[in-house]
Amino acid sequence: MNARVAHGVFGYTTPPAELRDAIVERLARRYNWAVDPAWIVFLPGVVPGLHVSARRLLAPEEHALLPTPLYQHFKRALELAPRAHSEIPLVLENGRWVFDLDRLRRGRTAKTRVLYLCNPQNPGGTVFRRDELARLAELAAGCVIVSDEIHCDLLLDEAARHVPIASLAPEISRRTVTLMSANKAFNIPSAGCAWAVVEDPQLREAMSLDVRAHVLPSPSVFGYAATLAALREGDAWLAAQLEYLRGNRDLVARELPLPMAPVQATYLAWIDCTELPVADAHEHFLRHGVALSPGAQFGAPRFVRLNFGTQRARLRQALERMRTALPSAG
Ligand SMILES: Cc1ncc(COP(=O)(O)O)c(C=O)c1O
Repeated sequence: MNARVAHGVFGYTTPPAELRDAIVERLARRYNWAVDPAWIVFLPGVVPGLHVSARRLLAPEEHALLPTPLYQHFKRALELAPRAHSEIPLVLENGRWVFDLDRLRRGRTAKTRVLYLCNPQNPGGTVFRRDELARLAELAAGCVIVSDEIHCDLLLDEAARHVPIASLAPEISRRTVTLMSANKAFNIPSAGCAWAVVEDPQLREAMSLDVRAHVLPSPSVFGYAATLAALREGDAWLAAQLEYLRGNRDLVARELPLPMAPVQATYLAWIDCTELPVADAHEHFLRHGVALSPGAQFGAPRFVRLNFGTQRARLRQALERMRTALPSAG
């Protein structure tokens, strides 16, 4: 970033070829996923990519499936487009939030054109397995899959592996749009750079249109520089950060006597407050000095989401305040 600032010329730019190469190399090395550099479409963020997908991949009368609870911008993108959609709840099975295939199947209509996927899952923290993804892709046969994989480098469960759904089979790759970015893993969202991997030329055209027409901005020179630096030179930093986040995850699990599924990935704990005798858990913890994300934002009002991607001392303080807020503390 310093080198880019020292360069001194900040005119309009195009995506650097070495960034495409760094992405291709990373996806092959980490996920065994062979991607052609030409399949990469640069976007200013993953969320803009969700909005583009809702508007450009779905005709006004078409319908999408959303496995919920889910990062709020998926639903927001469909509401603003606006496009019809059905929310299908995930189910908690053996400590993991997983797809309810029967309900998803029943939720499909003749107009269903897109299935949205968030893998690793925000807020549930699940890393979906190859067999689970294969069954999901089969269920969504004939549909486009829009897969937000922004948390793929944030795996805390050392036994889990991230599997890009598009990497499962050529047939699945041809109908998948995978949204990715260095924004979460390296905490550089204000740099503003993300990308979609899209093999099919028609889908790629649809995902490219808005940036090419300047409806959306291209990533800035700083977004490209920050992303390239992160992907090329950030692995040791990322490994150290993951160790730290694992420590934070363990602290949350140990210190907070509320039900939550073990967090396989992300720095987010999805906490079940069903048994808490308060009308609004988010409000309740806020009154005790902890600002959590309200579960209603993700479609589950009895839950709250804790972001533990922070200094351990601050996390300890938050957990202490949360414990004080529990009825047993009274
Ligand atoms: C699942 C998911 N997608 C996208 C984003 C944001 O992406 P961006 O900053 O690239 O728009 C987040 C940020 O929390 C996220 O959790």
